[in-house]
Amino acid sequence: MYSLFGWKVAALLVGANVIASLCSNPLAHSTYDVNYSELKQGLSSSASIYFPEYEPFGAAVIRWSNLSTPTINVVVVPGTDSDVFVVVNFANKHHIPFLATSGMHGSINTLGRMDHGIEIRLNQLDGVDISTDGKTARIGGGIQSKSLIDKLWTARKQTVTGTCECVGYLGPGLGDGHGWLQGHYGLVSDQFISFDIVLANGSFVTVDENSDLFWGLKGAGHNFGIITSVKAKIYDLTHPNYAIDTMVFSGDYVKQIYQLANELWVVNGTMPDGLNNWSYWYYDPTIDSEKPVIAMYIIEEGVNVVNATHTKPFLDLGPLIHQSKNGTYLDLGQWTGISLQDGPCQETGNANPRFPIYMKQYNPDAQAQVYELFRNATTSDSSPFSDALFMFEGYSQNGVKAQGNDVSAFAYRSENILAAPLLTYVPTGPAVEQAAYKLGSKMRTILDQGANEGNLKAYVNYAYGDETATSWYGSQPWRQDRLRTLKQKYDPMGKFSFYGPID
Ligand SMILES: Cc1cc2nc3c(=O)[nH]c(=O)nc-3n(C[C@H](O)[C@H](O)[C@H](O)COP(=O)(O)OP(=O)(O)OC[C@H]3O[C@@H](n4cnc5c(N)ncnc54)[C@H](O)[C@@H]3O)c2cc1C
Ligand SMILES: *[C@@H]1O[C@H](CO)[C@@H](O)[C@H](O)[C@H]1NC(C)=O
Ligand SMILES: *[C@@H]1O[C@H](CO)[C@@H](O)[C@H](O)[C@H]1NC(C)=O
Ligand SMILES: *[C@@H]1O[C@H](CO)[C@@H](O)[C@H](O)[C@H]1NC(C)=O
Ligand SMILES: *[C@@H]1O[C@H](CO)[C@@H](O)[C@H](O)[C@H]1NC(C)=O
Ligand SMILES: *[C@@H]1O[C@H](CO)[C@@H](O)[C@H](O)[C@H]1NC(C)=O
Ligand SMILES: *[C@@H]1O[C@H](CO)[C@@H](O)[C@H](O)[C@H]1NC(C)=O
Ligand SMILES: *[C@@H]1O[C@H](CO)[C@@H](O)[C@H](O)[C@H]1NC(C)=O
Ligand SMILES: *[C@@H]1O[C@H](CO)[C@@H](O)[C@H](O)[C@H]1NC(C)=O
Repeated sequence: MYSLFGWKVAALLVGANVIASLCSNPLAHSTYDVNYSELKQGLSSSASIYFPEYEPFGAAVIRWSNLSTPTINVVVVPGTDSDVFVVVNFANKHHIPFLATSGMHGSINTLGRMDHGIEIRLNQLDGVDISTDGKTARIGGGIQSKSLIDKLWTARKQTVTGTCECVGYLGPGLGDGHGWLQGHYGLVSDQFISFDIVLANGSFVTVDENSDLFWGLKGAGHNFGIITSVKAKIYDLTHPNYAIDTMVFSGDYVKQIYQLANELWVVNGTMPDGLNNWSYWYYDPTIDSEKPVIAMYIIEEGVNVVNATHTKPFLDLGPLIHQSKNGTYLDLGQWTGISLQDGPCQETGNANPRFPIYMKQYNPDAQAQVYELFRNATTSDSSPFSDALFMFEGYSQNGVKAQGNDVSAFAYRSENILAAPLLTYVPTGPAVEQAAYKLGSKMRTILDQGANEGNLKAYVNYAYGDETATSWYGSQPWRQDRLRTLKQKYDPMGKFSFYGPID
């Protein structure tokens, strides 16, 4: 009701050319020199259009990270797949930039290159339709991770999704997509069978393994179109129960912890399919007032107690806190602090830059050097980064490595660890932004030099935005050539170049 009201009033104002004067950016005028009533007439009855002056526009454009955000003048909320087709063709006709959104957790700073245009908010496209054989599902292009998990769970099914409950499904999936089940089945993108997609030229097509585009959509997928729905592999729910051991260590143990982790899972073997680990560094003065702690999560599926062989070597180091819990797959979000109720799912107005790097193993000396910088940044007086978090994600890699290195545009199957500092801060101006950039880059450079793997390997979905396309998509010339050829063919004007653009 709000939206309809908003649209009617705004449409009148458009006629009178009043709204245009509200925009400080002269380019933004072009967005308003069009008649949105015409667009509205072409859309289904469940679609909405929001203008800035009226709620719920504000809630529809707010993002998880308030750093280098896209400038949006109009939000269109499609009610059907063909509405997406209609909006894209309308935008093309009037030369208006556009950006699809699902979970609003994208934070790469290339998003800020969008200086005006239409947000195509896909949230209503959230259907899950399970095939009669129970092996695949058609999944809406705007669905959130938690909604998909719950809908499949009800049917005693599962698939690989991002772990955080409030991120989109395709936002992560188009850039590879890491999740708890990847040890069995591979990445989120490895599950895709076909895409219903609106391309840059406005045509609405189905892309499957017979198309050259299929390869590129799996890993560099933000570059080529808007996916209205995807057909993906799903699986029977065979291991509903899970257990977690949380061990919180003093930062004094930084070298020993990561040395041990290397020995256990890199030198002496690889993590079993159903085992995952994360470690977080953060400053919690109630545990240690002087320096950040190292919290390690060991998560095992199909059991009520984590197998002691996985935890004993760490417990022998003497953690400050040790907690064991059990429950189901649905509890993992809450256990790891990323459920709908947790901090990472709230829009706080903070800037949330990350500086990701993939590594094959930890370099204990580099870990210790970076810890020292992190300690200073989180504990020194008046530092704006006291809430920073350093993430080391160690998912089981078996399902990922079972696929050939060249099956998709994701270039980093041979890596094991995804590390990134998340330098949360209140955006008070360019000084703190510069300080965050300097600190984050410095920490990442130390890890990069310690890893000594050549060209920086950065997960596009965690990227800061200053990395190159060779860091996001792999430095092998054949990868870059193949991506450039696809980009030239499917998006020569760069309409889908706001998120980790291929050069
Ligand atoms: C707290 C948190 C937890 C995270 N956890 C994980 C995780 O477990 N695993 C993981 O792999 N990543 C994870 N990420 C990173 C995540 O992959 C990215 O933040 C991703 O961009 C989020 O997608 P979104 O849909 O939420 O964001 P949005 O900002 O809505 O979208 C991101 C990009 O995807 C594009 N897009 C979205 N939907 C479509 C579509 N249907 N068709 C075409 N383009 C589309 C948008 O245009 C945009 O460019 C996490 C991030 C955060 C902040
Ligand atoms: C906008 O389009 C609608 C529907 O086609 C039309 O009724 C209206 O007169 C147009 N408004 C202006 C200002 O052109
Ligand atoms: C790794 O394997 C070696 C050789 O079998 C063994 O001596 C060592 O204790 C193992 N390390 C760990 C951490 O299990
Ligand atoms: C625990 O893990 C070890 C090593 O992988 C294995 O030998 C043992 O059977 C496991 N124990 C249980 C109870 O599964
Ligand atoms: C947790 O484990 C106990 C046995 O150790 C079991 O009885 C209980 O059902 C488990 N809880 C869940 C939610 O699976
Ligand atoms: C984002 O940060 C700016 C300052 O850079 C601030 O003015 C604005 O209110 C913040 N946005 C939100 C939604 O909090
Ligand atoms: C420690 O942190 C302070 C405050 O952020 C900063 O000014 C200083 O440069 C840092 N020192 C080192 C050695 O990184
Ligand atoms: C976590 O998992 C990764 C990937 O499987 C592995 O390389 C790493 O050693 C593990 N880390 C810890 C702390 O166990
Ligand atoms: C749009 O681009 C696709 C892929 O290049 C092409 O097959 C199709 O014919 C184009 N459609 C139009 C209407 O130009």
